[in-house]
Amino acid sequence: MNLKDLTKIFSMSVPVGLVMVFFLISASLGYAYWNLQTQYDSLKEEKASLEKTLGVKEENLSQVESEKATLEGELMGEKQKVEEFSEQVGEIAETVGVLDKLSKIDPELLQKYSKVFFLNEHYIPQGLSSIKTEYRWNEENDIQIHSSVRSYFQDMLSDAVDDEINIYVVSAYRSFGTQSALKSGYKVLYGSGANQFSADQGYSEHQLGTAVDLTVVGVGANLTGFENTEAYTWLQENAYKYGFVLSYPKGNGYYVFEPWHWRFVGKDLAIKLHREDKNFYDLDQRQIDEYLVSIFD
Ligand code: DAL
Ligand code: ZN
Repeated sequence: MNLKDLTKIFSMSVPVGLVMVFFLISASLGYAYWNLQTQYDSLKEEKASLEKTLGVKEENLSQVESEKATLEGELMGEKQKVEEFSEQVGEIAETVGVLDKLSKIDPELLQKYSKVFFLNEHYIPQGLSSIKTEYRWNEENDIQIHSSVRSYFQDMLSDAVDDEINIYVVSAYRSFGTQSALKSGYKVLYGSGANQFSADQGYSEHQLGTAVDLTVVGVGANLTGFENTEAYTWLQENAYKYGFVLSYPKGNGYYVFEPWHWRFVGKDLAIKLHREDKNFYDLDQRQIDEYLVSIFD
């Protein structure tokens, strides 16, 4: 081979080499592209599958959320029902408590009497107790009062003594028979005029054991003039605090003015009457009855 041949071969092999290099690079790039494309397609598929799964899960989630909201609504409804029911149970229990308390209190205690309401000859209070000797006008005479009223009455007289007012009781409980005898005696003396200051048997508040006639030294058992005493002023200002009210004030429709005659009606009602400047007999019986349950509170 001569130089000419060599030059010819050399001049031919340069482009062949270039072509081969180009071919190799192209093949590598093609393979890389194919490889990437395959991965891309696979990822795309995976993405679509995941998106589908996610879609299903989101659908499930919104279904669960809607079920949760429904259940919460139902739960609230049930809770409200339970609350209403327990409220009703509470009210019923309260009513039962009030009725039970009422069943133990003499229903006659707040009736009006005085020509309005009648107590028969068999009526006597549930319990009677003697008033302390120191408060009796005549220490020799036992005077009885309703057992549940005694402490209110004696507290009142004791507090009056602390204020240097000595008040005595002339009369408290009077039986049907005692009232009958008393009224008969007054009728002999005063004729029909007795009806102005003395109740017929069965119509006297004294038969309840909750009414008292009060006096002081200087007035005595006759009771006339009691309205001008410090004791009367003290009672007007304080008796309601112990549950007592004046039954027959000036201008009442039943009897003459009786400043000495006080009746126990319980603190609640006495306070109401005092605050509103009203008299017991001015109220409807229905209104008065509401205070029976708390008469000894
Ligand atoms: N003095 C009153 C009205 C009575 O007899 O009960
Ligand atoms: Zn009286």
